[in-house]
Amino acid sequence: MTLKGRDIVNIGDLSLPEIDTILDTAKGMVKIARGEERSKILDGKILSSLFFEPSTRTRLSFESAMLRLGGGVITIAGQEGSSLIKGETLADTIRMADAFSDVVAIRHPREGAARLSATFSENPIINGGDGAGQHPTQTLLDLFTIREELGDIGDQHVTIVGDLRFGRTTHSLALALARMGTSMSFVAPKIIQMPEHIVNDVREMGVSVKITNDLKKEVDHSDVIYMTRIQKERFAEEEDYRKVAHAFKIDMDMLKDAKENMIIMHPLPRIDEIHPSVDPTPHAKYFIQAFNGVPTRMALLKLVLEGES
Ligand code: NCD
Repeated sequence: MTLKGRDIVNIGDLSLPEIDTILDTAKGMVKIARGEERSKILDGKILSSLFFEPSTRTRLSFESAMLRLGGGVITIAGQEGSSLIKGETLADTIRMADAFSDVVAIRHPREGAARLSATFSENPIINGGDGAGQHPTQTLLDLFTIREELGDIGDQHVTIVGDLRFGRTTHSLALALARMGTSMSFVAPKIIQMPEHIVNDVREMGVSVKITNDLKKEVDHSDVIYMTRIQKERFAEEEDYRKVAHAFKIDMDMLKDAKENMIIMHPLPRIDEIHPSVDPTPHAKYFIQAFNGVPTRMALLKLVLEGES
């Protein structure tokens, strides 16, 4: 099946060979992403970038990706910038974006909003994050980063840390890694541990998963530590947030016995979960990871708009 015309809502919408195709295509896009080569392969195409929740990296890298390939971008940033604030339905907003462009990237606070949007759009819908649901394009750039930095993904042990309950990046990533056979540790306090349905899906795929609240124990044997922010805005009770805020910190002391090649990733934004003194170490890959969002999204836009050839 071709990727042309496809909606990308959950990471499960992509088969492993399709993920490989996207990562291989992304590799070939790096020079264009850096501005060292020019491309016009999406000349005349338009991306609607509809971001109804705050975003720095995802929105800007989608837009940069489209512009680097010679396409154009129309954008809504924030509900207050659109007629949603006047009471227009999401369905009608999507119908308009569909009429004005060739592909839609959407971020919305409600879980399931991207899947719903896809039912109102002829053109491809790409989920840029739906509430506490999924964030499949983040996972593609995360996988690209692991592959570039460490080689084979299935051979690694990945420790995912922080807000696993509300962190949509961790949901998509865990489901993808499980399919690749990657062993994992999920490190979080109980009230923000990985949702049970994801733990069950991951275990059904036969990979080993450890559920724990002890980060230090996992650091020394991990190949990847994937830190995340505790997502204050998604807690119903501020009191619950306060109980788990600042739960984990990676600092130089924590890294004393880490493997030499271990990499630290983070979808960003970070608050205080990685101390800035870690930034200059060879472990820190979160800024290159953020850059990798551009070639990865270039690859995805190219493939859903033009297909594989
Ligand atoms: C994340 C998100 O929006 O899900 N950021 C991102 O897209 N890189 C993580 C977060 O907000 O903490």
